Amino acid sequence: MKPIRIAVLGAGVVASGVVHVLQRNQQEIQRRAGRGLEVIAIAARNTAKAHEALGATGVATADDFEAAVRRPDVDIVVELIGGTDRARALVLAAIEAGKHVVTANKALLAVHGSEIFAAASAKGVMVGFEAAVAGGIPIIKALREGLTANRIEWIAGIINGTTNFILSEMRSKGLDFGTVLAEAQRLGYAEADPTFDIEGVDAAHKATIMSAIAFGVPVQFDKAHIEGITKLQAADIRYAEQLGYRIKLLGITRRRDEGIELRVHPTLVPAKRLIANVEGAMNAVVVQGDAVGTTLYYGKGAGSEPTASAVVADLVDITRLHTADPDHRVPHLAFQPDAMSDAPI
Ligand code: HSE
Repeated sequence: MKPIRIAVLGAGVVASGVVHVLQRNQQEIQRRAGRGLEVIAIAARNTAKAHEALGATGVATADDFEAAVRRPDVDIVVELIGGTDRARALVLAAIEAGKHVVTANKALLAVHGSEIFAAASAKGVMVGFEAAVAGGIPIIKALREGLTANRIEWIAGIINGTTNFILSEMRSKGLDFGTVLAEAQRLGYAEADPTFDIEGVDAAHKATIMSAIAFGVPVQFDKAHIEGITKLQAADIRYAEQLGYRIKLLGITRRRDEGIELRVHPTLVPAKRLIANVEGAMNAVVVQGDAVGTTLYYGKGAGSEPTASAVVADLVDITRLHTADPDHRVPHLAFQPDAMSDAPI
């Protein structure tokens, strides 16, 4: 059987991770997917830089994103350019062209998710977005599949590695905010515009997506209460510690009688709790379900190969379903938020 053919939009660290993981683990991935997965095109703004990073992989790079999306020989488009406007246009164009889509773009889904899922549903194509929340942690799969028997009661998570790294370094090394933020940028954890990280916006994007899946509500980022870590001072962190707490930036979503709560803010967590001891750029998500009780998911929430791990997992899932039914008649709900209600947020 011919391999499934993939076009990747973007040639940054995650794109490079996807190509390398697919090539390095080719045999295992092919066995699990039931056929090969081949990246046949990479669209990049800076083709010279892309060639430098990816030339050795033998995949062609070009700067025409629209052409990559519409190529008739492409089955799945992977969107890794970030941002909302151009990414939205390209993803909708890919769906319109009948391609399945995989994206790591939390901002795109938190803001335009309802439109994108509706378009995919109408076209009968799948949208995978495991990489959009908590990087390599398979939290979307956990919510949608592993915990599917449960009525989810609440979710609370450290879902931004940059801010957790900053809070950890300020606490353990007594460093100041600016020094640690610069280090987080150097290490590649922070977004291109780190305001999204430190003001809690990135965590709110991810919490919004989890909330939609867990509670079957529309993706309503604009309803989230968002407070970042910029007002925290070293003294706050010290006083918290003296009282037996750690300060963590948590994304929280909870079912309440009045509706669904969705908020991101610095939170005092008792130091003996597992989540209080999640340090550095790591992520952790606690999910409370009525049947299973409390569950905890921990791992790398950012970085080239952890994020690629989630992207490739979606590629394998889509390959399996697409191969079982190339006309896309397979139930694709497994990749989309549950039927949405109009519960107030
Ligand atoms: N800037 C994000 C973080 C990257 O620090 O968690 C992964 O979404």
